[in-house]
Amino acid sequence: MSDIAYLNGEFMKLAEATVSVEDRGFQFGDGVYEVIRVYDMTPHLLREHIDRLKFSATSIHLDEWLSYDEWEKIVQEGISQSGYAEAKVYIQLTRGVAPRDHRFPCTTSLTRVMTVREVEPDDLQLRKTGVSVITAQDIRWNRCDIKSLNLLPNILAKQQAIQAGMFEALFVREGFVFEGSSSTVMVVSNGVLYTPAEGPRILSGITRDWVLSVARASEIKVVEEPVSVEMMLDAQEVLLTGTIIEIMPVVKVDEYCIGDGKPGKIYHRLYQKFLSSISELRYRHVCT
Ligand code: PDD
Repeated sequence: MSDIAYLNGEFMKLAEATVSVEDRGFQFGDGVYEVIRVYDMTPHLLREHIDRLKFSATSIHLDEWLSYDEWEKIVQEGISQSGYAEAKVYIQLTRGVAPRDHRFPCTTSLTRVMTVREVEPDDLQLRKTGVSVITAQDIRWNRCDIKSLNLLPNILAKQQAIQAGMFEALFVREGFVFEGSSSTVMVVSNGVLYTPAEGPRILSGITRDWVLSVARASEIKVVEEPVSVEMMLDAQEVLLTGTIIEIMPVVKVDEYCIGDGKPGKIYHRLYQKFLSSISELRYRHVCT
């Protein structure tokens, strides 16, 4: 088993993959990406991830012509070459290699990179105790719906959280919370699940979508509207969702305790649903 890379049509060991210093991803952050979780060698919600990759690419005028079927083949081949059953797939598209110039290059073709690495086992202790987060000023641009490589505000906020001994940083602007540095935020108030509506201020999280449809199917009322910081601090529960963290309960925001300081009922219900959908996936894999 080993970490695998795919680079412009070829598979190789991750350590052997190199890209030019003149790649526009390196020079300008001129590209987009996706992160996909693999359960039991099966990429989870792959179609949704590839659709979002294409949306991000189109939004920055990057001509990504590989079809879903072609991407599916590449992803499956990468997973099987790695031999990892539990993995994360990272896909990155950039505007390619060209002498540094802000203008789009005329002739360059894009750089397609994919890596497959093993995922560390879930930290069960965190799920038991819940996590603590900080709030951070949202200094990002107004197209956070594009999964762009430009993550400087996100990594600065995440590092601020890590240095404070916290799990995540939640972006706040004018009294409203939008999302985490690498996660979606949801709050439970009077049994209703609230989360900011999709739009340019947040990434349309694929786990978000999944959680909201499961919540609706479980007769949990879902409201997609702006969430004020005040409402979040008064909530019974705060949840983070994301491809790698799945659903994570938050028990403290800055110095404020959320609810009774323990992972709440809605978290437990949604996470159980998540686990059973994953075990169905594993079961289907065994049967096919
Ligand atoms: N990040 N919001 C932001 C800013 C994110 O970076 C992410 C995921 C999410 C959750 O989206 P999804 O459910 O589709 O993973 C929300 C990935 C995992 C990353 O950058 O590593």
